[in-house]
Amino acid sequence: MKLAMENVKDFDWSVELAAEFLSERLGEVSGIAVVLGSGWDALIDERRVSHAVDFKDIPGFAVPTVAGHKGRVLNYTTENGPLLVQEGRLHCYEGLSALDVSFPIFAYARRGLKAVVMLSAAGGLNPLYIPGDLMIVRDHIFLLGENPLSDLRLDDSRSIHVNLAGIYKHEWREAIKAALPQQTRCEQGVYAYVKGPTYETDAEAAFLRMAGADAVGMSSIPEAVCAAFLGLEVAIMCCISNTLLPSRAPGLTHEEVLRVTRSRAKVLEGYLDSLLAHTYPLIKGL
Ligand code: HPA
Repeated sequence: MKLAMENVKDFDWSVELAAEFLSERLGEVSGIAVVLGSGWDALIDERRVSHAVDFKDIPGFAVPTVAGHKGRVLNYTTENGPLLVQEGRLHCYEGLSALDVSFPIFAYARRGLKAVVMLSAAGGLNPLYIPGDLMIVRDHIFLLGENPLSDLRLDDSRSIHVNLAGIYKHEWREAIKAALPQQTRCEQGVYAYVKGPTYETDAEAAFLRMAGADAVGMSSIPEAVCAAFLGLEVAIMCCISNTLLPSRAPGLTHEEVLRVTRSRAKVLEGYLDSLLAHTYPLIKGL
């Protein structure tokens, strides 16, 4: 159903309200937003949070319902400047549209942010991966599930037919990798997006592997598509919280995904400092 022009204005107005609210409540941040998905909240040192707002208070933001996703936007003090950090995220399997899930990205872009880096958990399909490995997304497969841009109605000349070839730029992938401690096990691979909330059957895992995926997860890609639409740079790194191939360990649960990712993130103390130092030069001049 095509939305009336009022709805176009409503969406745009909601984005404006959210952006203004964040500007008032968060203060100055560097031009990069970092989204912390399942388990990555372990990177947060509460003493470094200078400002925090809950999703429930931000106009237009939905509220996360999943364990491990606090739903806060922070001004986080790093050694290299203030960083906008989104602690927790929204998922389509929470009964939200792909555009609802991506709404925060529209608000950050309206505030003038230039790039978004997303950290998430994923299941390993590449048989060489082991739990706790990191994978930087080189490309994605998003053939199943709703594309957020199909819900977007525009009253200007921007096109929703965004060319996603090369969406994850080499220099961004290298920068988020260089920010890791040396010797960290980290590969680059293809991420298959699924809506979830169920984990894959063995046949589905084999199918996604055959299609060329190294990992599978239920997040990040709707937001990445919107980031590309908005002209933001985007980079994604996942913690392989569990493996699906060549065989899966028994006991795959959301709690286990959180546990493995949290313990991986815990030993990356200082990653947010280093991430800003390595990515900031890339947004200069954007
Ligand atoms: N499948 C889908 N999403 C996930 C998985 C998985 O095995 N692990 C963490 N997120």
